[in-house]
Amino acid sequence: MSENQYKWRGGFCLEVNALPSTIVIFGASGDLTGRKLLPSLYHLAKRQLLHERSRIIGCARTNMTDTEYRDYLRKKWFSGLPESEAGEINTFLERVYYHAGDYNAPEFYHSLELRLKSLEQNLNPDHSGRIYYLAVPPVLCTPVIHLLSVHGMLQERSDGTPWRRVILEKPFGHDYESALKLDRSLHKYLQEHQIYRIDHYLGKETVQNIMIFRFANLIFEPVWNSKYIDSVQITVAESVGVEHRAGYFDKSGLLRDMFQNHLFEMLALVAMEKPAGSDAESIRNEKLKLLKSIRPIRMDDVIRGQYEYYRNEPGVQADSRTETYTAMKIFVDNERWNGVPFYLRSGKKLTKKQSSISIYFKQIDRSVFYPVRESDLAPNILTLNVQPEEGISLTIQAKQPGPKLCIGSLNMDFKYASILAPGETIPDSYERLLLDCMLGDQTLFIRSDTILEAWKLLSPVLTHWNDHPETPLYIYPQNTWGPVESNRFPAEKKNVWQNQ
Ligand code: BG6
Repeated sequence: MSENQYKWRGGFCLEVNALPSTIVIFGASGDLTGRKLLPSLYHLAKRQLLHERSRIIGCARTNMTDTEYRDYLRKKWFSGLPESEAGEINTFLERVYYHAGDYNAPEFYHSLELRLKSLEQNLNPDHSGRIYYLAVPPVLCTPVIHLLSVHGMLQERSDGTPWRRVILEKPFGHDYESALKLDRSLHKYLQEHQIYRIDHYLGKETVQNIMIFRFANLIFEPVWNSKYIDSVQITVAESVGVEHRAGYFDKSGLLRDMFQNHLFEMLALVAMEKPAGSDAESIRNEKLKLLKSIRPIRMDDVIRGQYEYYRNEPGVQADSRTETYTAMKIFVDNERWNGVPFYLRSGKKLTKKQSSISIYFKQIDRSVFYPVRESDLAPNILTLNVQPEEGISLTIQAKQPGPKLCIGSLNMDFKYASILAPGETIPDSYERLLLDCMLGDQTLFIRSDTILEAWKLLSPVLTHWNDHPETPLYIYPQNTWGPVESNRFPAEKKNVWQNQ
């Protein structure tokens, strides 16, 4: 098989450069900023997608000068990059500033505004704006937004210039009620077009590809329904455990951490109807419609598990009943998906990292290959591999060369890695999301109504677990695929979970 078996041919590429932006990061010394935000902004700068007059200003409590902050970033977060990039890194870091202060103190906002004004003095207010990235614990989000608002720092003119946008990380509440409360308080200070709620899964190339795959090809949509599809599996498996995040995770649990956002967003993209256009509202309207069509989840259709020795992890309660694994069966009550089960699962400390969506097609009606029966012919499975080996595979039935009649399954396997140039990598999802926010494109961000809808579906499960602590919590050994009890879901369809 030649290495260049797959090649892009033709195509239409559009990358839009953003207008000058000032990116204010609250939580400048945190992990997210160091691991994701600044490296992504650096890569955007390298690809000349960060406007040359854009500036970044990190905010945190510790007193540091701009130079000290740049040195800290260089040593702690940029040291892994090749030596040959030192010059480019330095040029980028010259655009990064630092402002220390107490997020609860009004003086901080006053001095920050003065600092921002001086950094922005050469910018045309009609064609520039600010992003406030809240990379801080959730309890700080509303107070920071409140104080930004009090200091007039979120104010846009009636024509929307100079723009003021706020990026928020999850959790967006911990159940329906709290999400509604958070939403109401955000809307006191911001309009929906200013709120960018991140789900980093939506920035992953292969997740973005779901829509292109479905709606830019003719051959999939006609069979994308209950007439041809038997079941769908969505897996987000991780080999890591809670690591240093036990404080957050033990209170949250896997259902809140992964289902309410990543798994439901992927489900919506796979199952939604064709949107009227590719604009943010058309797509988000379809996602909402899909979530609204999900049948209330039956408690018997949810399985929870916890990995062995989870309770020994630092920061975890000794008697914790927090789930580190969940699997569930979902039905979408609309014409397209009538009766098709969607099996969703996600867990920590599983055999390997794997995020994928597998579409199991139905068996063919009648075999014409006597004496081969229909049941001898394995149905087609289309798998969209989200990570780590981004790609698409399709199992098909084909003749095996040689004997007169010999039919077997073949796997057509496409991996993105095979078409990347040497040294080229797939961009991190934060690159896409930060650029889209600068462009004012909310397509890959979650709208408040879809968040509430997801909570409406999941809150009853959380309440049930809370009110019925006797609900089984299956303890599974680490480095396995989770509780064997969850195998009953795909087994209903005479299948097994798609483990790669
Ligand atoms: C985050 C969760 O949203 O996604 C983490 O809070 C999880 O618990 C992470 O580990 C997984 O993201 P990825 O991109 O590594 O699959």
